[in-house]
Amino acid sequence: MPILLESRPIAPRPRLADWPQSSHADYNRRVSEKPLAGKIALVTGGSRGIGRAIVLRLGRLGARVVVNYSRREDDALSALQELQKCDSGGWAMRADIGDLEQVHELFARVKEEAGGLDILVNSAARGLQRPRDAMASLPNHLRNTFDVNVLGPWFSTKEAAPLMEARGGGSVVNLTSLGAQRYLPKYAAVGVTKGALDTLTRYLAVELAPRGIRVNSVCPSWVEDSEGVTALPSSYGEAIRRSAPLGRPITPADVANVVGFLCCPESEAIVGQNIVLDGGLTLLGVINP
Ligand SMILES: NC(=O)c1ccc[n+]([C@@H]2O[C@H](COP(=O)([O-])OP(=O)(O)OC[C@H]3O[C@@H](n4cnc5c(N)ncnc54)[C@H](OP(=O)(O)O)[C@@H]3O)[C@@H](O)[C@H]2O)c1
Repeated sequence: MPILLESRPIAPRPRLADWPQSSHADYNRRVSEKPLAGKIALVTGGSRGIGRAIVLRLGRLGARVVVNYSRREDDALSALQELQKCDSGGWAMRADIGDLEQVHELFARVKEEAGGLDILVNSAARGLQRPRDAMASLPNHLRNTFDVNVLGPWFSTKEAAPLMEARGGGSVVNLTSLGAQRYLPKYAAVGVTKGALDTLTRYLAVELAPRGIRVNSVCPSWVEDSEGVTALPSSYGEAIRRSAPLGRPITPADVANVVGFLCCPESEAIVGQNIVLDGGLTLLGVINP
């Protein structure tokens, strides 16, 4: 099957050598303001929703970002335009993360056009298009969901590892979900795959730590203003909004801030952890929708 990959450089690749080097203090100040300056990141599913917020956060931290998407090119291009406003740049690359041949081609393009990789955020996910309870789930839907949500991040990390190692190490962040730990109606396919991704995070973390690559995951609850939430009954959203001790919903920017931190050197000691972002929701015994 032909593989369609598109790559659109938006901003020229900045080189540290091109920066005005008036003094070491100036250089150090710029680096400290942009802790990911000179880094290259790939965000799968970076064109919309939470993935897009992560793209912009990494851009603000100084990284240049490959925005992966599978269908909607316009969204990817508008994400790149926003990235430019953050004084960063990147590429849009189409690849279905559930297709391992396309995953392989995607990383070949990243190596060729971006010149390497330091950060991988596995955010692309499927499975909510046909929400079903566990007992009503169908084999093909489960296989497709597993392909994108588990095998995609698994083999993306496998492809990313040598690229990161060649640049002295890196950071991988997986997007898991509270639906892996708690029951959510009609969320069985996604919940089970996110549980697998949570486990995979720990296995990859142990295997890749000696190669200088940290693997962690971020586990949001219901994220306001993202499409994923539309699959759940609205009564759940209301109950979560009402109940979370934080007193406000989790936003894509909340998730992006934590992902950004996990990609920065300050989080170096965090390895193989699943960081829950739920505003304290799961501290409660019962939530009544
Ligand atoms: N939303 C929530 O409340 C919530 C809660 C917990 C965890 N999460 C997790 O956070 C992540 C982002 O969620 P979201 O709600 O922001 O998702 P979303 O709005 O549905 O965005 C999906 C993104 O993934 C891309 N994508 C979908 N299938 C793909 C594939 N096979 N290959 C490559 N890209 C693909 C889409 O690109 P195209 O449009 O081009 O297909 C789009 O950029 C997911 O891993 C999700 O499970 C979300």
